[in-house]
Amino acid sequence: MDKIVIHGGRRLSGEVKVSGAKNSALPLLFATLLAPGVHRIANVPDLRDIATVEKLLTVLGAQVTRKNGNFVVDSGAIESVEAPYDLVRTMRASVLVLGPLLARLGHARVSLPGGCAIGARPINLHLKGLEAMGAKITLDHGYVEARAKRLRGARILFDMPTVGGTENLMMAASLAQGTTVLENAACEPEIVELAEALNKMGARIEGAGTDSVTIEGVDELTPLVHAVMPDRIEAGTFMVAAAITQGDVLVTGAMSSHLEALIFKLREAGAEISEETGGLRVKGPRKITSVDIKTRPHPGFPTDMQAQFMALMALGTGTSVITENVFENRFMHVCELQRMGANISIEGHTATVKGVKGLLGAPVMATDLRASASLILAGLAADNTTEISRIYHLDRGYERIEEKLKSLGADIERVKE
Ligand code: UD1
Repeated sequence: MDKIVIHGGRRLSGEVKVSGAKNSALPLLFATLLAPGVHRIANVPDLRDIATVEKLLTVLGAQVTRKNGNFVVDSGAIESVEAPYDLVRTMRASVLVLGPLLARLGHARVSLPGGCAIGARPINLHLKGLEAMGAKITLDHGYVEARAKRLRGARILFDMPTVGGTENLMMAASLAQGTTVLENAACEPEIVELAEALNKMGARIEGAGTDSVTIEGVDELTPLVHAVMPDRIEAGTFMVAAAITQGDVLVTGAMSSHLEALIFKLREAGAEISEETGGLRVKGPRKITSVDIKTRPHPGFPTDMQAQFMALMALGTGTSVITENVFENRFMHVCELQRMGANISIEGHTATVKGVKGLLGAPVMATDLRASASLILAGLAADNTTEISRIYHLDRGYERIEEKLKSLGADIERVKE
């Protein structure tokens, strides 16, 4: 298994380009199941989760070819409607096949994902929504089986905003009969991009990006041609990397409209952030001011940036209170940061981070995708050597992160064990 080895203490500087957004590319690739024909999706990042989607689409009968980040998906002949456990287990977003398969073929069988490192993450809201649209849903040997001759439009009120649920139902409703209204919908930029892509395919979706999305069903959709937007979480991770190393980095592809909450908090922490053509420049402060954060659905502070921001706060000059409101078990990085000398205590879903003067390199273990990024950031700022194992988590969501950081001056390597 590969490890990442970092000799910390280097100031990062230069320019780094953000890859295509993982959390956009996933639903966009699944949306190809909605319309028979040849779809072309560009700027798809080279990640393990994307390879899982590729496998899943192939298992379903689609033909997928890729050259660099350009994907061509021929979804003309879908032969299977089953997303098997082995694939869903490695990537929960596989449940996004449910809506498209059900809408196009009237039948889908998808393994229940089970728990994951950051919490229980049920899909009850996806299923309740599909039931409201007339699907008959049963559970069989750990698989959710959904059937519907044709889905009907419905008014659906989510108990809480769910990104995947909003995406699944938006896709399903695009081919339903009649109008669907999703209330308390998630507002993430990835939802806006999916709606724009579906509209290019002939869907009629309005309101994406607000908490009320209206989808007027159509009889058929046409293939998609689209380029994936830059990844706001990867961008945010590089922004924190600049901040934590007192660096000066231009993050190309970072969009301020997608990163408002993070920008606000980084500025409070003392970073200088300026908009430049094509990206955002971040200059790290000499002294990091401790600030509090509470994660919330977009436009609030993203849960996917909580672990990385905590690494920064570990070096703050005071005390920072970090509250995780989206997932119930998303503090797995805390024990590892403590091994590097961070002073963090947890009570319920709140972490109190008392800033320390410096972090010390140590062998640490990645526990999930964003926790891995947090350990890398801590390693960049720490004295001595940090060795991060189990980095397969990292490869799910960051494209060539060690090469990109190296190009900014970090002393970082991937080592084969
Ligand atoms: C997506 C992102 C993930 C991000 C998360 C929150 C993708 C592929 N992943 O995950 O990176 O951290 O949004 O921004 O885009 N919930 C239920 N029932 C449901 C669905 C969700 O109770 O049926 C709960 C979840 O357990 C969680 C909250 O709702 O507490 C938000 O989850 P959700 O927005 O659905 O996250 P994902 O779509 O899985």
